[in-house]
Amino acid sequence: MKNITLDINKLDATTKDAVSKLAAKANECNATLQNGNGAGNDFLGWLHLPSSITEEELADIENTAKVLREKCEIVVAVGIGGSYLGTKAVVEALNNSFDWLQAERKNPVILYAGNNIGEDYLYELSEVLKGKQFGIINISKSGTTTEPALAFRILKKQLEESVGKEEAKHRIVAITDAKKGALRTLADKEGYKTFIIPDNVGGRFSVLTPVGLLPIAVAGISIRDLVAGAVAIEKATDVSAAFDKNISAIYAAARNALYNSGKKIEILANFHPKLHYIAEWWKQLYGESEGKDGKGIFPASVDLTTDLHSMGQWIQEGERSIFETVISVEQPDHKVTIPSDEENLDGLNFLAGKRVDEVNKMAELGTQLAHVDGGVPNIKITIPEVSAYYIGQLFYFFERACGISGYMLGVNPFNQPGVEAYKKNMFALLNKPGYEKESEAIKARL
Ligand code: PA5
Repeated sequence: MKNITLDINKLDATTKDAVSKLAAKANECNATLQNGNGAGNDFLGWLHLPSSITEEELADIENTAKVLREKCEIVVAVGIGGSYLGTKAVVEALNNSFDWLQAERKNPVILYAGNNIGEDYLYELSEVLKGKQFGIINISKSGTTTEPALAFRILKKQLEESVGKEEAKHRIVAITDAKKGALRTLADKEGYKTFIIPDNVGGRFSVLTPVGLLPIAVAGISIRDLVAGAVAIEKATDVSAAFDKNISAIYAAARNALYNSGKKIEILANFHPKLHYIAEWWKQLYGESEGKDGKGIFPASVDLTTDLHSMGQWIQEGERSIFETVISVEQPDHKVTIPSDEENLDGLNFLAGKRVDEVNKMAELGTQLAHVDGGVPNIKITIPEVSAYYIGQLFYFFERACGISGYMLGVNPFNQPGVEAYKKNMFALLNKPGYEKESEAIKARL
């Protein structure tokens, strides 16, 4: 099997020189990660997750997925942030884009809740679940996050009213902390099947725990391939790898070199629309890990060529504070050949007989050159195909690079203190018991 690759050859000579100068620091930060002697070192469980997951753990996840697959036509994955985006990224990347329209389905439809507080969204979800056989995977590491707790309360009631309390227990799985949090208390009281999110794995690094693996298995995707891909990159990026062979270290060094030279925004671009949510997952990973202490690259994303018709102008000629990282897919899964047309009114006969992917690849190369010419430094990640194995590689590559990059930047990449600010205000405005003091002060500011 191949590995994903990283190409920084389109960076200019000054940046390449800066990357070389940061090699030692990147290696040092990788060693700090691996030796566990840096900031946030109580959250490094993800580092060896791929290689340490046991046959027993995989089988338990697969058996639980089998029960849900047999009982349910729809499974609602309830969670937000790191308890949501990894699953969504894999399912969107690997399942047929129009799966939900197929009359004959092999896999349950995975729907999502608890990732927003939209009343219309919850209403429409409840409506669509009426008369359907559904189950719920409720995911919250802390077990106290408002968005998923609220959605679960509503869906649990609906499920119990639909199939009875006893059967509902067999269709609800909770993934949470081993001991603490409201979800743990509830799951133990109700007798739900549960999986544990290890204490030392933060939400955004948890896709290779049951948080991601269970719903992904329910969707009919091979979690063994996903994990195997991650294992390959775990090995390829550990401290024994030389800098010029370590794709995570090079990516971390390149990002820091670009940031130091004034590039404050990184745009993750794809030319494969099914990778949209990989970028959403990546944005959380880098945004929450690095955006602190007044520092950090702002992670943005575009789907191309779609967004060349909306954001293309800004990227080409807007403020030169951006760089671009492109995920390029070598081989699509399917072949579509462009037909010849007798009248050729659209003038496209020069493309007849070519694959759609050839046009896409030329758009990709043309865009890369145009953006580089326009002053947008380019980094390219190539994945051989969109499969569970290579998505597993991509996840681990980005996670490891994020740890290294965060340490290079001088922040603790494994906490997220800033996420609490909105919660405190929201609770005060909602008169949550315990927030009486803040409540008055905050309401006075409205
Ligand atoms: O990365 C993180 O830790 C957070 O973004 C969490 O994933 C998110 O807030 C959800 O938290 P929880 O799983 O505790 O409900």
